[in-house]
Amino acid sequence: MNKTKLGAKTFLYPMPTVLLGSKINGQPNFATLAYCGVVQHQPPLIAFGSGKGHRSNEAIRKAKAFSLNLPSTAMMQVTDYCGLSSSATSDKAKLFKVFYGVLENVPMIEECPLNLECKLVAVLDFGGTNEIFVGEVIESYAEEKYLSQGLPDMRKIDPLVFSMHDNHYWSIGKKLGDAWNVGKTLKPKRKG
Ligand SMILES: Cc1cc2nc3c(=O)[nH]c(=O)nc-3n(C[C@H](O)[C@H](O)[C@H](O)COP(=O)(O)O)c2cc1C
Repeated sequence: MNKTKLGAKTFLYPMPTVLLGSKINGQPNFATLAYCGVVQHQPPLIAFGSGKGHRSNEAIRKAKAFSLNLPSTAMMQVTDYCGLSSSATSDKAKLFKVFYGVLENVPMIEECPLNLECKLVAVLDFGGTNEIFVGEVIESYAEEKYLSQGLPDMRKIDPLVFSMHDNHYWSIGKKLGDAWNVGKTLKPKRKG
């Protein structure tokens, strides 16, 4: 083993880049998040970490709901801007066409290829810098042009991915194989 110890850091690469949608004082707002992921298949749960000072946190607690909007690489600049500027000083929603789904206080972004509309399930505090929000996806939205066989197609969505610490945005590479399938060749053959 010839590895360098890098310290206790969140190097879980690559990270998604999403835009968190909420309504703050009646106004739609979008904040960039990368500390975000899927935590359960059924019921469908996702979780994200949001800094304790963020205005979105209180709004989400109040509405008991939020959205996660997945930007494409073409939306890199606007996504970065939503992570640079606070809702306290800028109207970030004016950068987007905003639409609503089932829940009235959950704004979503039309330009994002994928939108997840979520009900708040829990807010966890482990005493650190973030609060951890857990939400259940109650509906998801995508235009037909981003789908293949009725499912979101990564190639068409062209998601904006991220690496923390060096602060770089990335695009995804090519499809390599089929999951739950390519590993089968390594399964031991049954005798007899
Ligand atoms: C690429 C990127 C990723 C970010 N990820 C997070 C995150 O996971 N959690 C968080 O609390 N803030 C994150 N931020 C910072 C917030 O987006 C930023 O503080 C923003 O101003 C909050 O906006 P708001 O005032 O509208 O809530 C990120 C910023 C960028 C640029």
